[in-house]
Amino acid sequence: MVKIGLIYKQLTRRDLRVLEAIEKGHSKYEYVPLEIIEKYTRIPEQHVLLSLSKMYRLKLVKRKMISGYKTFRLTYLGLDMLALDYFVRKDVVEAIDDRLGVGKESELFKALAPGGKKVTVKFLRIGRTSFRRTRIVRNWAQDPRIDWFKQAKIAAEREFKALKELYEIGANVPYVLAYNRHAVVIEYIEGIELYRKPELDNPEKVLWKILDTLRKAYLEAGIVHGDLSEYNVLVSIDTNTPYIIDWPQYVYRDDPAADKLLKRDVDYIVRFFNKNYRVGVSLDKALKYVRGENE
Ligand SMILES: Nc1ncnc2c1ncn2[C@@H]1O[C@H](COP(=O)(O)OP(=O)(O)OP(=O)(O)O)[C@@H](O)[C@H]1O
Ligand SMILES: [Mg+2]
Repeated sequence: MVKIGLIYKQLTRRDLRVLEAIEKGHSKYEYVPLEIIEKYTRIPEQHVLLSLSKMYRLKLVKRKMISGYKTFRLTYLGLDMLALDYFVRKDVVEAIDDRLGVGKESELFKALAPGGKKVTVKFLRIGRTSFRRTRIVRNWAQDPRIDWFKQAKIAAEREFKALKELYEIGANVPYVLAYNRHAVVIEYIEGIELYRKPELDNPEKVLWKILDTLRKAYLEAGIVHGDLSEYNVLVSIDTNTPYIIDWPQYVYRDDPAADKLLKRDVDYIVRFFNKNYRVGVSLDKALKYVRGENE
């Protein structure tokens, strides 16, 4: 288990400056020469080397000799430290705790915001795992020239913007506090994933609430989730409110794939309720509601 908080606590300002310098160097180099790192940090070579070997041990950087030159690159864990440091300095996160889960394209941690509010830090990870199901959804990041860190940063920004806008128009999504680099800080929802089939007081009402969020997203924000399933719905334990999570792959309404994705989203969720909660809502009716047709 990665104790991300413990790693962060071991870092000095100097270490973070070195990480930042490597990050900056990545705009030009995949592996950044030591000389460039020194130049950017303006820290004497011996100190930079000490810091680098410490961070190599902590798995925050990788190293490689390229034609006799020492070069370095950040790992995702190294990039995590920079994002985490940003959140700490901006008073968004006070402490980061255990890992909540690893998804196909993210890693989530429990954390505390100042004042003791529970939040989660979601670090986007692109290119680390297989691309199984997201191909069709991934048109926004298919340019192979964009490297993985950049893609993860784009994904985080997208998730932040979608959540912020959806929250503002009253859709059922968690409140989002901030984003930086490839990371987003999101309100922690005390809930159960829908795939676990939680007991619901009124399942049909819960389904309509989900459809209502899809509708707000479609009609008011002009976006389609694109990856909706029982895995991306969290049902709050006390109020049975369904929160739709995991938005980075959303597409705009006028995207050529939007129609197909909207149908698929609605299809999945309605089928799931019909099958597991025996609610008997028709796909057609649900889709019309989401699209704002026939009213
Ligand atoms: N705001 C939140 N509050 C509480 N738990 C959350 C929150 N966001 C995500 N989680 C938990 O983390 C899991 C993964 O989150 P999310 O779906 O956003 O990432 P993901 O990369 O798509 O993961 P997966 O590939 O497993 O769907 C969720 O299924 C849920 O259990
Ligand atoms: Mg998910």
